[in-house]
Amino acid sequence: MATFFEGESHTFSEYLLVPGYSSHENVPANVSLETPLVKFRRGEEPPIRMNVPMVSAIMQAVSGPRLAIALAQQGGISFIYGSQTPESEAAMVREVKTYKAGFVVSDSTLTPDMTLADVLEMRDRTGHTTMPVTADGSPTGPFRGIVTSRDYRVSRDDRGKRVFEFMTGAKDCVTADPSTSLKACNDIIWDHKINTLPIVDAQGNLVSLVFRKDYDSHKSRPDELLDEHKRYIVGAGINTRDYAERVPLLVEAGADVLCIDSSEGFSEWQKLTLDWVRANYGDSVKVGAGNVVDAEGFRYLADCGADFVKVGIGGGSICITREQKGIGRGQASALIDVCRARDEYFEETGVYVPVCSDGGIVYDYHMTLALAMGADFLMLGRYFARFDESPTRRLNVNGSYVKEYWGEGSARARNWARYDLGGDKKGLSFVEGVDSYVPYAGPLKDNVESSLTKVRSTMCNCGALDLVQLREKARITLVSATSLVEGGAHDVMLKDSNSDGNFRS
Ligand code: IMP
Repeated sequence: MATFFEGESHTFSEYLLVPGYSSHENVPANVSLETPLVKFRRGEEPPIRMNVPMVSAIMQAVSGPRLAIALAQQGGISFIYGSQTPESEAAMVREVKTYKAGFVVSDSTLTPDMTLADVLEMRDRTGHTTMPVTADGSPTGPFRGIVTSRDYRVSRDDRGKRVFEFMTGAKDCVTADPSTSLKACNDIIWDHKINTLPIVDAQGNLVSLVFRKDYDSHKSRPDELLDEHKRYIVGAGINTRDYAERVPLLVEAGADVLCIDSSEGFSEWQKLTLDWVRANYGDSVKVGAGNVVDAEGFRYLADCGADFVKVGIGGGSICITREQKGIGRGQASALIDVCRARDEYFEETGVYVPVCSDGGIVYDYHMTLALAMGADFLMLGRYFARFDESPTRRLNVNGSYVKEYWGEGSARARNWARYDLGGDKKGLSFVEGVDSYVPYAGPLKDNVESSLTKVRSTMCNCGALDLVQLREKARITLVSATSLVEGGAHDVMLKDSNSDGNFRS
């Protein structure tokens, strides 16, 4: 007969923090959100730390190079999605690692023959008002000019007007060559009173753009997360099938940390993957594992050598695993149990294995709760999908801007490799995720700053100046039982009423 699992199954919305004593020192400016990313021994420094406790989900609709750069600038880490070929995933990692801060490779490029209608469509889709023009429309093609919102008047100009008729042509643009430092580019921008400086090589090809506003914000990034070569830190997702092929390419591209992306991680597949990495790279390659929802699962992965352990099954906003398969556990209870197991493991072995709470964060206060419950850091999908930098289209639906967001287990992503069912994807004939829209929310920087201001402020109410103190001092109270809400697709607008049904090829 099956045994009855003793643990509870509550979710974040069922808890609140009870404020504690705070002194005059408890002000947001004094709060540190630093946190370890990977395991370390008692008394030693963690090999990688983050400045803010946020990572972006290993998902097609979330973690591309642009978001990875924007998040590293704020002090967190993206895990580039693994549901693509190893080569293209490695190329995305390389793009982040070779990114020169302040030099932007445009993702909205025009050709001289396009029309004002194309410009307006591109502006709406990407949110960019400055667009370079190249002969072939590629971001690094022969440079022909620049279009900004000052070059046309929507109310007056014919939509059919050609770009070459109103752009600022290459010969009238101030440009710089690729050897120019960011500081020197900024001086040129100021001396010529321009907003954008195209970087053009000796052959006349566009290389990148420097924006006045980017230089200013570059100087105000105290939490920026850089490696010892001053490159942005980035992670990458792997699966338990093609690691022998994928891991070497990702390591070669410069990935700082890997994470096994699996819907359910208490399995021999994870052990085989971790064993392979250790046999080939020792401890030099850092790999997180998961997902688990209890102490037993944590201990198994910690014993297998995971560098961090990810918690959460069924709580993701696009996730319908609980409805489809009836497995999972309320995210808060899972997290509390796993964090307790982490602390016991640390007591026993002297090895601290950080815990990541993955999925189900809906409100900013859920972040504080998860950190108070013991999470070292949080993985977020829906949250980041809403921002300019996520790799999806921005659409206008009934007058409101939205971004697309779909699960890795949806028919759209076709990421069957995250479902460890014996190496044969044909075994899976149903989806575990939906395809949806989420409300567009603007730039990552503004949103992350606003969320973390709330986290810092609540930490002050609990008398905590860092995340370790928060765990020690926070008093958490259970308020009601609403965890059923978390089990279904929630906080998204379903595009297709069938998208949460059975998989149809
Ligand atoms: P969110 O932050 O609530 O949107 O949850 C994101 C998390 O949901 C991811 O990090 C994954 O762990 C999980 N996830 C992603 N895609 C799927 C899916 O299709 N089905 C179930 N869970 C998913």
